[in-house]
Amino acid sequence: MANTDDHQPHPHLHDSKGVDDYHVRGQFGSRLGFILAAAGSAVGLGNIWKFPYMTGENGGSAFIILYLICVFIFGLPVMLGEFVIGRATQTDQVTAYSVLSPGRPWGLNGLMGLLSGLLILSFYCPVAGWMLCYGVRMATGGFDVAGMNHEQIGDYFNGQMMTLLQANTPETWYVPIIYMLIIAVITGTIILMGVESGVERACKILMPALFILMLLMIVRSLTLPNIGGGLSFLFKPDFGKISWSTLLSAMGMAFFSLSLAMGAMMTYASYVDKKENLVKMALSVTLLDTAVALLAGLMIFPAVFSAGLDPNAGPGLVMQTLPVIFMSMPLGKIAGTIFFLLLTVAAITSSISLMEPIVTWLVDGLNIRRGYAAVMVLLLIVILAIPVSLSVTGDGLMVLNIRGLTSMPLFDVMSYLAENVFMPLGAIIICMFLLLSGWKRSAILQEAVGTEGTVTTAVKLWYWTAVTITPLGILFILLNSSGLLGRIQAYFAG
Ligand code: PHE
Repeated sequence: MANTDDHQPHPHLHDSKGVDDYHVRGQFGSRLGFILAAAGSAVGLGNIWKFPYMTGENGGSAFIILYLICVFIFGLPVMLGEFVIGRATQTDQVTAYSVLSPGRPWGLNGLMGLLSGLLILSFYCPVAGWMLCYGVRMATGGFDVAGMNHEQIGDYFNGQMMTLLQANTPETWYVPIIYMLIIAVITGTIILMGVESGVERACKILMPALFILMLLMIVRSLTLPNIGGGLSFLFKPDFGKISWSTLLSAMGMAFFSLSLAMGAMMTYASYVDKKENLVKMALSVTLLDTAVALLAGLMIFPAVFSAGLDPNAGPGLVMQTLPVIFMSMPLGKIAGTIFFLLLTVAAITSSISLMEPIVTWLVDGLNIRRGYAAVMVLLLIVILAIPVSLSVTGDGLMVLNIRGLTSMPLFDVMSYLAENVFMPLGAIIICMFLLLSGWKRSAILQEAVGTEGTVTTAVKLWYWTAVTITPLGILFILLNSSGLLGRIQAYFAG
């Protein structure tokens, strides 16, 4: 990590030794370092895997419009809120609340965030494993599509995804588990070794590479035959498809994609120099993350329609579609291999940011040694991720699909709980904290712009949005989509 002009003597981002004395706590050496780490957290499977299939399931461009609204009305204000709390307190996300508001139970929100982090990791690691698996199979010639046209390639990968997802034969059911384990162990090892230089370096080189490769793939995707359906799917909104639950999904997607309400952003911000303007940083990270999601949509949907695939294919959508693009472009196998490996790296920089707050809390809050903490969390993730992975890939192991109980696979249960329950609730509480914690508004505004910044009207506007429209809007969507509002109304109507 590069040093700043004031020569920070402790460049270790996650040096837990300094926790008792905030001044010797490590910090990001440069503004870019922090933006990269935060963007590394935000940009991941959410943008390239989840956003396209959610868009596909929810009818296309109307969902994209809702998503954009959610990003700016709910996501951005909450992100800045997390940045402000994290940097002001420079500690783990559970302690942070009690530093600012002693003796009150706000810290429970930090704990809820840790729980959402665990739930997310339980499906995030398996999916990152699928990407790695595809990268390896591309590289080793495991996909044989010689002589096929792109529609046949689409069919072929439809089938391939099925064999990966329903790895139900005695020979293959464990394959996704092994890839999941590889991801979990890499994440845990990086956390054990200290995140600072690794994450920053990975983000500095690999993220721009991913970006450029995506641009090339968009060009190929847009020049495939018969993409008209894809373009109207992307650009002609059909608001008839919108319901309260679509809006809830768009909101959950925004929190997920921006890595909010589970402590990642708060933890990273706790390492930022006091001088930096957090408003600009929140804006940069949000814009970058949103740009990558939109580009992913532009890359996927023309190819989906061109190859005659179903946009409503669910979590397997990009696995079926991306190979269609690769296999119909020059040096496609190499491009495909590189792409899936870059995506795996992007997923790992996100899973690090999911795991790091939990480890930081065990170390800072409970005084557990970093090594033990990392191993404990790793084991917990693996124990959760095995049944979650098998609930979608192990068709032969239906016992693990608690479908009878929940009517959806464990995989979906985890993602639903995290994105549609815990993250929105956590976000509301972060907003309320800014209003009710007893922390002075002038201090909050100054923290947002940094020690050298001036509080502008825009910053005040952020504050008022964050303590009014944002939490009320989230609450309204939660109540409506759960049907509670209807029941309350019915109650009062007699
Ligand atoms: N934002 C990450 C992604 O889009 C996932 C994530 C969620 C990471 C929450 C950290 C916290 O892939």
